[in-house]
Amino acid sequence: MSLLSEIQNHEFRNLFWLKTKDGNIRLATLNSDPGRKVYTERLVKIKGKEYRTFDPYKSKLAAAIRKKMKSFPFSEGSKILYLGAASGTTVSHVSDIIGKNGVIYAVEFSSRSIRDLISVSERRTNITPIHADARFPEEYSFLVSNVDIVYEDVAQPNQAEILNVNVQSYLKSGGYFFLAIKARSIDVTKDPKIIFREVKEELKSKGLIIRETIDLESYEKDHVMVVGQMP
Ligand SMILES: C[S@@+](CC[C@H](N)C(=O)[O-])C[C@H]1O[C@@H](n2cnc3c(N)ncnc32)[C@H](O)[C@@H]1O
Repeated sequence: MSLLSEIQNHEFRNLFWLKTKDGNIRLATLNSDPGRKVYTERLVKIKGKEYRTFDPYKSKLAAAIRKKMKSFPFSEGSKILYLGAASGTTVSHVSDIIGKNGVIYAVEFSSRSIRDLISVSERRTNITPIHADARFPEEYSFLVSNVDIVYEDVAQPNQAEILNVNVQSYLKSGGYFFLAIKARSIDVTKDPKIIFREVKEELKSKGLIIRETIDLESYEKDHVMVVGQMP
C-alpha cells in the first residue's frame, strides 16, 4: 500500500476524491483558507495544495453526492442563497467550490450559530452571513436578488413553504433548488415515504420542477435531498 495520499478529480467541478494513507476514499474540496478547519474535517496536503475532507455524516450535500446525485450546478462564480447555514459546515465547502467570484448568502436564525458563521466569513469573503428568519425572505431583500441556486436545510415542519417563498422571491428562471427533507421534523407518526411525496406534490403545485430525489439513508435516517428547478 502507498504511504502517500492521492487525489483525483471528481466528475463534478472543484470536487475531488482523496485516497488517504489508510486506503479510505473520501470526498474533498480544495481548502481556500489553508491551515484552518471549520469543523472536524481532515486537512491533507498533496503536491503543495491543501484539501479538506467533505464529511457525508456532517453534510447532507456531501451525503447526496456520495449517494450519486446527478445534478451539480455549483461552480466558480455561482450565486447561492443558503437557508439554515448553522455554523458553516456545508457552507464552507460550497465556499471552496464557488471560489472568490461566487457568493453565498447564508441565512441562519440562531444567535449562537450565526456568531460561528460570522467568524468563518471573516476568513472566507465569499460568505455573506445573514441573521434572519428564512420564513420572511423580505428581511434580506436589500442584499439578495436573482440567485443561481437556493439550498435549504432548516429541519422545520414548514420546510416546503419556506423553500417556496424564497425560490419565488430570489431564484432565477432555470435556477436550481436543493431541499434536504427530514421526515421527523414534519411528522414523527407518518410514513416518511408519504411525507416526501406530499412535500414534492406541494412544490409541484407551486409550479416548480422536480429533477431528482436522493435517499440519504446510511448517512442520515429518514432524510432525502430533493433537487429541482425554477421553470
Ligand atoms: C440541520 S441544521 C443545518 C446544517 C447545515 N445546513 C450544514 O450542513 O452545515 C438546521 C439549521 O437551520 C436553522 N434554522 C431553522 N429554521 C430556520 C429559519 N426559519 N430561518 C433560519 N434558520 C433556520 C437552525 O437554527 C439550524 O442551525
